[in-house]
Amino acid sequence: MKKEFFRVSEWQDEGPDFEQVMALDNKFFPTPWDYAYWQDYIGKNLSKLYIFRIHLELVGFALFGIDHFAKQAHLLKIMIKPSWRRHHLGEYGLKESLTQLQTFGMNSCFLEVNARNTAAIELYKKLGFQILTRKKHFYSSGDDAFAMELDFICALSLE
Ligand SMILES: CC(C)(COP(=O)(O)OP(=O)(O)OC[C@H]1O[C@@H](n2cnc3c(N)ncnc32)[C@H](O)[C@@H]1OP(=O)(O)O)[C@@H](O)C(=O)NCCC(=O)NCCS
Repeated sequence: MKKEFFRVSEWQDEGPDFEQVMALDNKFFPTPWDYAYWQDYIGKNLSKLYIFRIHLELVGFALFGIDHFAKQAHLLKIMIKPSWRRHHLGEYGLKESLTQLQTFGMNSCFLEVNARNTAAIELYKKLGFQILTRKKHFYSSGDDAFAMELDFICALSLE
């Protein structure tokens, strides 16, 4: 996939983009959120939603919680449509989102990821995230999570 065709934009308002994101989440995410849960984050200055497109097609998204006080973003969800996976879109999309968050004033990004989710863990490691700790039985399924962090100031990978 040629990077020039790929675009990352910050979601600003209510509208069809948001409905498409929720539809993707419902269809393809292992643990989708309901509308009320999305509403807790969206449009309240507590989050940033980045939408990934190839031409006009919405192919994925990344949602971050924002801690203004700690200047830390919290990656809550990232997803690429199954038909577009393994084309480096997750990598381009996450990298560009992190760059925009850094410009917005964030100093670091934190996340929790299911310890079985090799694809996501490898993606995060590739972008320079470090494993902080393993949280035993973090998910309701009983699965463990890795807590991971990327310090933007130390990270060379965003340059
Ligand atoms: C995780 C996810 C976003 C990755 O998106 P993607 O566009 O397929 O990933 P990329 O093609 O950008 O891969 C970048 C790197 O991630 C790693 N990676 C991606 N998929 C992988 C897989 N299935 N197995 C192992 N490593 C993988 C590799 O290091 C890869 O680099 P490489 O191709 O040079 O080896 C995608 O698999 C997804 O949407 N998963 C479902 C939702 C999810 O679990 N999200 C994370 C938790 S919120």
